[in-house]
Amino acid sequence: MPLHIIRSDITKIECDAIVNAANNTLLGGGGVDGAIHRAAGRRLLEECKTLGGCNTGEAKLTGGYDLPAKYVIHTVGPVWRGGNNGEESLLRACYINSFKIAKEQGIKSIAFPLISAGVYGYPKKAAIDIAVGEIERFLEGQDAMVYLVLFDLEAYEIAGSLYAKYCD
Ligand code: AR6
Repeated sequence: MPLHIIRSDITKIECDAIVNAANNTLLGGGGVDGAIHRAAGRRLLEECKTLGGCNTGEAKLTGGYDLPAKYVIHTVGPVWRGGNNGEESLLRACYINSFKIAKEQGIKSIAFPLISAGVYGYPKKAAIDIAVGEIERFLEGQDAMVYLVLFDLEAYEIAGSLYAKYCD
């Protein structure tokens, strides 16, 4: 199965690229962003400082440094503001633009966190539906392995009830 939904810490995943749910500065933060910067080490921040930030829905590539992953794709999800402020298309764009970079780099295995579903407040079920939908769409045309890495039990239980066939 080329999509695996797993409950884990994304900084531990051995694959070509992990995706970071970053903010517009790309200079680190809390949540998965903080965990990735801690695990990758100082050199990740040094490279991020050269990138000039990132718009919401877009994505940028760096090295993985001390991570097991070779690359980090940094993307910036939307802040949830009730659902009528373009949140869905911006969140879809995060996946689409991350996959675009993956294709350009020849990345064959990639792990995503549940973008926007933490500090940025996106409802978990809706965030999971968007993630799975965009990953399925990408995999229709590609030979690749994609991991959706869920950290909290609630998100993993929601995914298990909706997408059991993908859950490990
Ligand atoms: N591995 C996998 N998933 C994780 C990990 C981890 N180590 N740690 C947290 N998560 P969040 P956002 C999950 O808040 O909502 C940062 O400060 C978490 O349970 O990290 O996009 C940035 O700098 C949740 O399901 O990202 C931005 O300012 C998911 O990752 C802001 O937070 C996303 O939660 C971005 O907010």
